[in-house]
Amino acid sequence: MTELASDILHWFKLNGRKNLPWQSTPPNIYHIWLSEIMLQQTQVITVIDYFNKFIICFPDLTALANAKEDEVMSNWAGLGYYSRARNLHKTAKIIASNHKGVFPKKYDEIVALPGIGPSTAGAILSLGSGLSTPILDGNVKRTLSRYHKVEGHYSLSKVMEELWRLAKHHTPQTKNAEYTQAIMDIGATICKPKNPLCGNCPIASHCGACLSKEQGIYPNKKPKKDKLPEKTITFLIFKNESHEVFLKKRPGRGIWGGLWSFVECDDNTEAIDLAIRQHNDSAKIIRRLSKFKHTFTHFNLWINPILVDSPGGLANYYDAGSLALGTPAPVKKILQAL
Ligand code: ADE
Repeated sequence: MTELASDILHWFKLNGRKNLPWQSTPPNIYHIWLSEIMLQQTQVITVIDYFNKFIICFPDLTALANAKEDEVMSNWAGLGYYSRARNLHKTAKIIASNHKGVFPKKYDEIVALPGIGPSTAGAILSLGSGLSTPILDGNVKRTLSRYHKVEGHYSLSKVMEELWRLAKHHTPQTKNAEYTQAIMDIGATICKPKNPLCGNCPIASHCGACLSKEQGIYPNKKPKKDKLPEKTITFLIFKNESHEVFLKKRPGRGIWGGLWSFVECDDNTEAIDLAIRQHNDSAKIIRRLSKFKHTFTHFNLWINPILVDSPGGLANYYDAGSLALGTPAPVKKILQAL
C-alpha cells in the first residue's frame, strides 16, 4: 500500500464520514449509485435531504424505472444539473429491461450507462461492491495534482493519463471503500480549491505542493490564450448607377492572394478621402456599414466597410447577384448584405 493510501486510511478511522444516509452494511448499490449521481456537482450537506426524500418516493430501482419522468424531475427540483435526473431515470429503465432490474456488477456495463463516467463507475464499484477500482473526480484530481505537483492543465490528455495512473497507483487492494470515501472527503473538505486546510491534512507531510508552499500553483491553471494582434482596414464599396460594385484582383501574395476584393485603405479620414479621389473624382460616401471582425489564425482583422456612390464607374464593375469571381469570405458577406 502506498504511503498516501495508508495515511488516508488512518485518517478515515478517526475522521471519515460513516453515517451518511446512503452508507450501510452491506452497501445498497441503488443507494450508492443514486448518491454518487447527486454528489457529482453538489455537496454532501445539500444532497442529504434530497436523497432521503428521493428514496421515500422511489425505494428501489424498479420503483424508479416505473416512475413518470415528471415525478422524477419534481423530486430533483432544486438540485440543478437536470440532465443528471433524466439520465438517472433512463438508466433505471435500461437496468429494468436489460439487466432484469439488478444493478450490473461489471465496470464495462456500468460505465456504458447514461450519466456514469469512469470515475463514478469506479466509485460505485468501490463503495457498492468493495472492489479495488480507482476514482478520479474533481476533488481527487486536485488532491493528486498537489500531492505529486502534476504539471499541465486537465484539458491535456497526457495530464489526465498521468492523473489516472497516479489514482490507480494509490488505490489500495484492501479497505478500498474506506479509501475512496476518505480521499473524496479530503478533497472536498480539506484540499479545497482556495485556502486548503493543510494543517488538518493527513497527507500534508508528503504533499509536494504543501512542502514547497505552491498550493496556489497546483493544479495548474488553464493557460490563457495570447491575445491575437489586431488590425483595422477600410473597404470602399464603389457602386455605380446600375448598382454594380467595383472589385479588383488582389496580388498573388499576401492575404486573399488572387481573390477579388473591394478597394482597401487604412482606417483614417485622409487615407479614405485619397483612395476615393484616386478611384473616381466625383465619387461620394453614401453611408458607413457596420464594422465587423474577421479572424485569421494569427490576427484579427477589423473591417470597416463604406458604401460609396461612384457615378460613371464602368471597368471592373460587377453585378453582385451574378458574380462568378472568387472573393474572400468577408467580401462575400458584404455583397450578400447589399
Ligand atoms: N463526491 C462524490 N461522491 C462523494 C462521496 N461519496 N462522498 C463525498 N463526496 C463525494
